[in-house]
Amino acid sequence: MSASSLIRLNKVSVALTPRHGAPLALEGVSLNIQAGERVALVGSNGSGKSTLLRVIHGLQQPVSGQLVLDAALRQAMLFQRPVLLRLTVQNNLALGLWLQGTPWQQARSRAMQVLGDAGLDDVAQRRGRQLSVGQTQRVALARALALKPELLLLDEPTASLDPHSKRLVEATVQGFAGTMVFASHNLGQVKRLATRVVYLEQGRLLVDLPVHEFFDHALLQTRSADAASFVKGEGVT
Ligand SMILES: Nc1ncnc2c1ncn2[C@@H]1O[C@H](COP(=O)(O)OP(=O)(O)OP(=O)(O)O)[C@@H](O)[C@H]1O
Ligand SMILES: [Mg+2]
Repeated sequence: MSASSLIRLNKVSVALTPRHGAPLALEGVSLNIQAGERVALVGSNGSGKSTLLRVIHGLQQPVSGQLVLDAALRQAMLFQRPVLLRLTVQNNLALGLWLQGTPWQQARSRAMQVLGDAGLDDVAQRRGRQLSVGQTQRVALARALALKPELLLLDEPTASLDPHSKRLVEATVQGFAGTMVFASHNLGQVKRLATRVVYLEQGRLLVDLPVHEFFDHALLQTRSADAASFVKGEGVT
């Protein structure tokens, strides 16, 4: 285990269903992430990707195992189903900054700057709750980036986006200089954005490889036949 890891998970298990004998959402997941890595989490629906992101963000406590990361690390998360408040989009962003101690007027101008960078000026004065799902997703990403995180956690950041918006978001994410962990069902996107890929199945981490090795079918096959058929089924080679 490297001493320089930014995030360390040591045999983390998570139980979300209280029923005795119910399957664990995560089971014995160990993972070390270094600063600057872009780790993609892939796997079928219900495999534990969102749960793992929530554990890293401190929203979900493991029933066993440990999460080790610096409490001072600035982190932000884009949720799979992001929620905006009944304020203008600009004030939705400003609020997050204000809660972190930025004076209100300064927070509002920084919010406009971030929205402009994301090409979202046109929705700045709309009410957060009146946006489409895709617009909400883009605004929520801008809100996360406004916090200038060192660690960015993204749960299917482009799931609801049209092709143009998807490219914009990918370009934004590519320009992010910090450490990133993201869940995605889009394996083309994983290839474009990730440096490393983690494959989960039923809460277990089955594969953890550099991106070029993950997409080397023969090599992946030797690690996990399930992961290999998961990738093959997506038609990304
Ligand atoms: N609030 C909850 N209460 C009980 N069980 C939950 C809850 N949220 C998720 N689970 C269960 O935990 C497991 C992991 O779910 P998780 O949401 O982490 O999967 P995922 O990989 O993100 O799936 P998807 O691709 O559909 O987003 C699943 O079996 C799921 O049914
Ligand atoms: Mg999920």
